[in-house]
Amino acid sequence: MPATLPRFIVMRSTLLGLSLLGASVALPQHAYAQTEPTKAPPHQKWSFDGPFGTFDQASLQRGFMVYDHICSTCHGMRSLTYNDLLGIGLSPQTIGALAHSKQFPGPVDEDGQPTTRPGTPDDHFKAPFPSDAAAAAMMGGVAPPDQSRLALIHPHGADWLYAFLTGYHIPAPAGVAAVPGKFYNDWADGHFIGMPPPLVNGALTYPDGTPATVEQQAKDITTFLVWASDPHRTARHHIGKGVVLYLIVLLLLAFAWKKKIWKRLHGGA
Ligand code: HEC
Repeated sequence: MPATLPRFIVMRSTLLGLSLLGASVALPQHAYAQTEPTKAPPHQKWSFDGPFGTFDQASLQRGFMVYDHICSTCHGMRSLTYNDLLGIGLSPQTIGALAHSKQFPGPVDEDGQPTTRPGTPDDHFKAPFPSDAAAAAMMGGVAPPDQSRLALIHPHGADWLYAFLTGYHIPAPAGVAAVPGKFYNDWADGHFIGMPPPLVNGALTYPDGTPATVEQQAKDITTFLVWASDPHRTARHHIGKGVVLYLIVLLLLAFAWKKKIWKRLHGGA
């Protein structure tokens, strides 16, 4: 990892354009099979699947970029501190520079004016809005939920997030009445949601050269959100494996011991 975070070109204007366009134009185009959001989303292959799964670090780092450059414009993630990003392999220098680039509310100055201060690695991720009420007011009535536990809210966590992030249809499918200011998504409750499609092909440039398709970004941000919902899981798995190994060794020793003692009792030694 380079010492400073690489810059990205995020096409926020695209997001804005889409949100202005809204779902108000429904051009009847193609026959469309509606999916029930209650159905289980298709299963994707995840690096962290299963008891021995480990997070793909490159994907985690790309996922954090997606969060930092796109999702964090609207969604907070208050349970994480910048230092927690050591867990996805960012260096202390990168983390320091990243935290420093964010402005936090500081103490009031002598004239009673509010000030700002640069962030430190111990700060929790900066929230985009001062409060949920302010967020709701800015976002047409619904506050974007905090993303700290997003991957745990839905029964099919990762698969649902991926399906949802790749499940927009703009305009809404033929025959579906558009809802002004809402966007059609196969996997949203009631199919319409207040969040404009956040992912756009090539909206950012990954420094590792991975093409930033919508699907790739969805995969990476989902991996990051699953990690973020339980950042200490990897450490716990390591300890767990150590404990199991220790118990196996103990068991073997106990067997050897038992054999030895019984041999003696039978008059062998
Ligand atoms: C322009 C602001 C904005 C951006 C950028 C944004 N979101 Fe949202 N998001 C919202 C709003 C507003 C809602 C609530 C919408 C609603 O409930 O109608 C929401 C809801 C969601 C939900 C739905 C939760 C649920 O249970 O239904 C998920 C998941 C989500 N966002 C993920 C993301 C991810 C991942 C990103 C970044 C790739 C992102 N959002 C970027 C504004 C945004």
